[in-house]
Formats: sequence, structure tokens, C-alpha cells
Amino acid sequence: MKIFIDSANLKQIEQANDMGIIDGVTTNPSLMAKEGVYSDTEEHYKKICELLENVEGHVSAEVISTNYYDMIKEAQNIAQIHRNIVVKIPMIKDGIRAIAFLSNKNIKTNCTLIFSPIQALLAAKAGATYVSPFIGRLDDISHEGMNIIESIRLIFDNYSFDTQILAASIRSNMHVLSCAEIGVDVITSPFDVIQTLFNHPLTDLGLEKFLKDYKSLNS
Ligand code: E4P
Repeated sequence: MKIFIDSANLKQIEQANDMGIIDGVTTNPSLMAKEGVYSDTEEHYKKICELLENVEGHVSAEVISTNYYDMIKEAQNIAQIHRNIVVKIPMIKDGIRAIAFLSNKNIKTNCTLIFSPIQALLAAKAGATYVSPFIGRLDDISHEGMNIIESIRLIFDNYSFDTQILAASIRSNMHVLSCAEIGVDVITSPFDVIQTLFNHPLTDLGLEKFLKDYKSLNS
């Protein structure tokens, strides 16, 4: 399972990459706005791609157009920024049409804002490189987000789609565990959740005891 960081913060991306377990990055317009990046988005995406060059990590950059022609124009511009850019396209009718066009041009796409398995099926049929089902936002409205992940895995396996399931809107360590058990291809997680993945109190206690015992013999 690949692990992406869901962030547009250069420091977080660099720190996460230094952990040695990061395979890529996802951003969205809200995350970009959080970093105060409004105009020079191209430069910012380029910096993120360069940070991940050691792993040739895919970096998702989202279009803000919502009609077919503007979307493909914007997507082609975004795709030129760096070889590892994946263009994020929203799950709307024009978006699916744009994904079909871009996939024929060998431009990598990530179909975002997926909230049902059928939406994922359409994106896969259009040739999306990734589909991004949003787990946390479904949980927020009392729908079990993990159910659509299971259903998408089943559908993609039924038809041997190449499209990768990129589980998004991850809010907890438990989301990551369930995704791994179901067998998603990628999870994208905020920096704070990634940090929790390393922790277990018994590891800390065990290490403390090992070091204490070692020192007692060597002092
Ligand atoms: C996906 O690529 C999105 O950027 C992201 O996971 C959305 O997460 P949120 O629901 O925490 O905003």
C-alpha cells in the first residue's frame, strides 16, 4: 500500500518524506489556500514535485475549471509542470469526459470527490489513474465511509481495472488500518495522522526498559 501525504505545506511534505515511507502527495484548492498559494500555484507544485523526486512520487494538483473545454485546457497546462504531476478532476459529467480525453493523451488523472462506488466505476471506465473516495466526509454525515472502499475494491477486482483506489479524507489511524485490510492501493493522509502510525505505548516502554537494562550492565 502506498502512503501519500495530503498537504500543500512544504515543511510537512519534506518532513514526511524524510520518514522514508512516503510515496506521493495530494493537494486540493483548500489545502493550497491554507498555505496562501493563490496565484503562483505552478511554482508551488513544482517545489512539491522536486521534494518527492527521490521516490518519483506522484503529486495531485487539482483543476478549478468545471466545464469540459476549460478543464482539459487547464489540465494540459498543469500536467506540463512536472513529469510526476497527476491532474485532479472532480467527479462531474464534464470531469469524466475530460478524464477520458486526458487518459487518451497519456495524462495521469485522479478523479476526486467520489462518494459512491458507481462514481468510481465511471471514473475507472473513463481511464482515471486514481479514484479518490472520501471516507471522513461520509463518516461526518453518518454514512460508513469504509463501506464504499470495500465496494470499490470488489468492483475493480471484478473487472480488473488498472485504476488505483486512493483512499482520501483519512481522519484516523483506524481508517488507515481498515484501508490496508481491504487492500486499497494508496491512502492519502494528513501529516498528524501519519505521525500517529508510528506510535505504540508498549514500544516506548519496551525501548525504555531495554536501554535501562543495557546501561545497568555497562555502568
Ligand atoms: C483528497 O485528495 C483530499 O485532498 C482530502 O483527502 C480531503 O480530505 P478532508 O475531507 O479532510 O478535507
